[in-house]
Amino acid sequence: MKVGHFSDKILKVPRALAIQLLVFLGVVMYLYSRTPTVLVYELREKAGHGVKIEHAFWRRLGVETECTQFIIPGRGGVLLDDVQAYRSNLLITRTFSKEDLEVQPVELNINQSDVIVVQHIQKTGGTALENRLVQNTNIKPPCVCKNITQDKKRTVCSCLNAKGQVWTINRHATGWACGVHADFTELTDCVDHWFRSQPNENRKRRYHYVTVVRDPVTRFVSEWLHVRRGATWKECRLHCDGRDASLAEVPYCFNHGTWANVTFDEFLSCPSNMAFNRQTRMLANLSLSDCYRLESNKTRQERDEIMLKSAEDNLRRFFKFFFLVEYQEEAQELLERTFTGLKLNSPMIGKKFSSATSYAMLSEKHWEMILEKNLLDVRLYQFAKDLFMQRLRRLNIEARPRTNEAIIVQEGFTYATVTV
Ligand SMILES: *[C@@H]1O[C@H](CO)[C@@H](O)[C@H](O)[C@H]1NC(C)=O
Ligand SMILES: *[C@@H]1O[C@H](CO)[C@@H](O)[C@H](O)[C@H]1NC(C)=O
Ligand SMILES: *[C@@H]1O[C@H](CO)[C@@H](O)[C@H](O)[C@H]1NC(C)=O
Ligand SMILES: *[C@@H]1O[C@H](CO)[C@@H](O)[C@H](O)[C@H]1NC(C)=O
Ligand SMILES: *[C@@H]1O[C@H](CO)[C@@H](O)[C@H](O)[C@H]1NC(C)=O
Repeated sequence: MKVGHFSDKILKVPRALAIQLLVFLGVVMYLYSRTPTVLVYELREKAGHGVKIEHAFWRRLGVETECTQFIIPGRGGVLLDDVQAYRSNLLITRTFSKEDLEVQPVELNINQSDVIVVQHIQKTGGTALENRLVQNTNIKPPCVCKNITQDKKRTVCSCLNAKGQVWTINRHATGWACGVHADFTELTDCVDHWFRSQPNENRKRRYHYVTVVRDPVTRFVSEWLHVRRGATWKECRLHCDGRDASLAEVPYCFNHGTWANVTFDEFLSCPSNMAFNRQTRMLANLSLSDCYRLESNKTRQERDEIMLKSAEDNLRRFFKFFFLVEYQEEAQELLERTFTGLKLNSPMIGKKFSSATSYAMLSEKHWEMILEKNLLDVRLYQFAKDLFMQRLRRLNIEARPRTNEAIIVQEGFTYATVTV
């Protein structure tokens, strides 16, 4: 009895413990197996509000990847910057002033003082814009054009107003009046001089600068492909503060006349490759960041920040009109609202496949390397896109939904990353 009682007692305690333990383990295992599902579910809910990290690389390819990383907003985390936003297919929307957003329309009068100056940055779709402006508008008198090549890719036009004065600085009309792919620094320095050398030019001129910007990664890939085919743009003068850049300042990346057949890795590893951050450099007033000079009492980083700020300022204020090449239809409306009376004779239509085509040539590793080499252009593009989109909204121009369009988040967005 005693023993039995004792043994009963002995058995009773472990049994109770065992049951408790089992229940405990069961609950733990239940929770353990459930927790991730609950978390994913909650995160997916939140993702609906624009916080899922979508790796832009895969999204652009149209590849549906199972999302493993999520951005949880506002948890005292990291401040989202434009580069991380770009990586995550987000767009930070910032506060612009009324003057930056409100288009002041210009009643274009080419017979008087108005001149459209096209700044054509390599591989941004500038040729299409230039072509349209000389061949596809209601401007009177129209340009007189002739085809140089069968495919209509090279056309030379004479674009004169009723008094025989040129009304556009445009490759198709004036050739490279200020040098091959003249940048902001070169154009603003040269345009007046160029006009003074023309006949009948004794008028006051009002310049309207226009340009196109493009997704930095696809633009970069496109430039690589073009250089592979033999383009060098070595005629570019890189003129700044009264002189052209020297070869010591900007050495060529190639030895034998061209860089044809260059591999992507070679293209990425030449330090003086002008493809890096090309859009920022070409839109900035380079005088402010000491041009191409090797000696400067500012650090490289300070010069980069000045350059980016200047490019942004110019897009905000100096350019009468700019657009993103990815938004052709919207751009046309904005163009026609900016220059009242100007109408295009046929619609601008975007190439829907082009970015996926460029992306398909890349590995994810290369994509990341391109970003690293083009951080200024990534930041500039995010800025430009935000500005462009806000301008459209002001004018009630509807931006057609794109597949995989970036999700807009507010300035000051902080986040923590969760991997599931
Ligand atoms: C410029 O003058 C020509 C000839 O007088 C006229 O046909 C044309 O409509 C004028 N263009 C503009 C924009 O006023
Ligand atoms: C240029 O060529 C295209 C077809 O290739 C033709 O439709 C167009 O009329 C030509 N333009 C001129 C000015 O010859
Ligand atoms: C580039 O490659 C093509 C095709 O392989 C070849 O015909 C051409 O000569 C090459 N060009 C240079 C500059 O190496
Ligand atoms: C560019 O910056 C220089 C130096 O501050 C200035 O003199 C020049 O006027 C600027 N150019 C333009 C077009 O703003
Ligand atoms: C920086 O360099 C400029 C000329 O390149 C010179 O005028 C200026 O005094 C320098 N500033 C400092 C702080 O050394």
